[in-house]
Amino acid sequence: MANRITRRKFLISSGLAGIALKSPMLFANTSGNAASSPIMRRIPGMDESIPAIGMGTWITFNVGGDTQLVQQRTRVLKTFFDLGGTVVDGSPMYGSAADVMGEALDSLDAHDRIFAATKIWTGDESETRAEAARSSRRWGVERFDLLQVHNLLGWQGHLETLKQMKANGEVRYIGITTSHGRRHREFAQIMERESLDFVQLTYNVLDHEVEDRLLPLAQERGIGVIVNRPFQGGSLFRRFQSEPLPNWAGEVGVSNWAEFFLKYIISHPAVTCAIPATSKVEHMKENMGALYGALPNAGQRQRMADYVRSL
Ligand SMILES: NC(=O)c1ccc[n+]([C@@H]2O[C@H](COP(=O)([O-])OP(=O)(O)OC[C@H]3O[C@@H](n4cnc5c(N)ncnc54)[C@H](OP(=O)(O)O)[C@@H]3O)[C@@H](O)[C@H]2O)c1
Repeated sequence: MANRITRRKFLISSGLAGIALKSPMLFANTSGNAASSPIMRRIPGMDESIPAIGMGTWITFNVGGDTQLVQQRTRVLKTFFDLGGTVVDGSPMYGSAADVMGEALDSLDAHDRIFAATKIWTGDESETRAEAARSSRRWGVERFDLLQVHNLLGWQGHLETLKQMKANGEVRYIGITTSHGRRHREFAQIMERESLDFVQLTYNVLDHEVEDRLLPLAQERGIGVIVNRPFQGGSLFRRFQSEPLPNWAGEVGVSNWAEFFLKYIISHPAVTCAIPATSKVEHMKENMGALYGALPNAGQRQRMADYVRSL
């Protein structure tokens, strides 16, 4: 886990000082699975597991400069930690999100709770270390748990430096990302050739493209998989939220649409973690419900995909 290096003035100015984080095990999830343990996934080849639900920060945490919004997002992050989450995904591309994360971590004194993942996002392949250092300062972490080359931008140079950084202990895990189905052929070639700990890609109940090649390849090569856009940027809710859940939803441990979409993803055997993004405490509670209770088996997953297609 990332270490804390600073404690900012925000702690006092935010009015959030002293709000203690709670043990995740004390909380009931929205499915009422109060007594169950969070669903953990082993990082392939490692003696370390992470919770199968993490969180993204694109757009939702880009609220720097507005004290009230920063405080509100801090509550979202607190809810995430309280309900057992650890993996947070960012990028220098996400505007002020990195600064907001730094402020929120300081105010919650939560640097020992987070599995901090960000990206290298610059076309200048000599800038890998400098960009990682800038992000460390913004998040207030000594080093990242995971650094990923964002959308393969300058991947050759960045990956070489990231390998050195990992060997030196400057980062724990390294990887690459894509989304929206972009550059999958090249992505697969890199997965075949390079030594990666994680890949990040788009997968959800309506977008199955990665099932053909990338997910089996990740299993074969022992690479962890982080799933972005699990709600297709929120459009799954807009499309299906007014529809009824199937009457067998309880059999697959699902009590709302957020759990339906997320449990579909994390029950794929190649998937390590999904990273839904939200700006709302209530939505975070729903999303973290997917970290508890039953998961669908292969037949039930097919039934879930068929059901949404029938709506
Ligand atoms: N190439 C890359 O590396 C890449 C690309 C895309 C994304 N990502 C990462 O993946 C993360 C997730 O993807 P995403 O942010 O694009 O989309 P997403 O997580 O699929 O969807 C986010 C949207 O869903 C809504 N939402 C969340 N929980 C909800 C709930 N329980 N009920 C109703 N609505 C809900 C949010 O609105 P509210 O705020 O109202 O809850 C938000 O508009 C990103 O934040 C980022 O960290 C990486």
